[in-house]
Amino acid sequence: VFMEELSGFHALEDQIKDTLKLDRVIIIPGDSDTQTWVKQDLGKRAVEYLLSIITSDQTVAVTGGTSMAAVAEMMHSSPNVKDCMFVPARGGLGERVENQANTICAEMAKKANGDYRLLYVPDPLSEGTYQSIIQEPGVEEILHIIRQADVVMHGIGNALTMATRRKTPSDVLMKLESGRAVSEAFGYYFDHIGHVVHKVRTVGMQLEDLSKIKTVIAIAGGKSKAEAIDSYFRQGKSNVLITDEAAAKALIKGF
Ligand code: F6P
Repeated sequence: VFMEELSGFHALEDQIKDTLKLDRVIIIPGDSDTQTWVKQDLGKRAVEYLLSIITSDQTVAVTGGTSMAAVAEMMHSSPNVKDCMFVPARGGLGERVENQANTICAEMAKKANGDYRLLYVPDPLSEGTYQSIIQEPGVEEILHIIRQADVVMHGIGNALTMATRRKTPSDVLMKLESGRAVSEAFGYYFDHIGHVVHKVRTVGMQLEDLSKIKTVIAIAGGKSKAEAIDSYFRQGKSNVLITDEAAAKALIKGF
């Protein structure tokens, strides 16, 4: 049964790889919506993948959320990967401190025996503050490091789940509803064909910066995220997906 399951996932991985036009898809067994250990397995598999592709002295940018927190939890060092730099991809984005990109990036750096730089900026920012803050030498320096990242690792969420979790103001909620936002990643909200409905104004990586980065890894599982994953990948900004069986099967079956 185990071997059958393994080869079964291979077929599913290929199918999703072709449908979403990705370079690599990794599926782990289970459903992170209902089985708590599956999210940890997702984190573990993501760490394994990361350590298989990075080399010493590279920079990894990370986002926040519970899936990325699971990645940080499972992170460890590797004899082949030395002196890596970890940075948050963007600002805090209204997450609890343990799920913020800064926290996750510091934890990953510590466990990998690497270094880290943090972003201390509130979000969302007003246009005026945004324009002046990105010119601060300290901020400018870290933004430069972020844009030069070799690898980006990020979560994907359901638009309304994320908007609620962030205590989003009602005018923005209305915008998300009328624009039929389905998914969220990096502070961007997307509709079912991947068009940006709304963007949280904060410093750090912008969507257009992603196309210059060689490896952009999305980590998202659970049946409830299938539609969000599909929506996010419509515009194809990431090239690797690490997910679970439940999300993968729902992606193929449709919703
Ligand atoms: O808020 C950071 C973030 O990475 C979002 O961009 C994403 O939608 C969310 O977290 C994913 O969170 P979780 O892994 O907890 O579902």
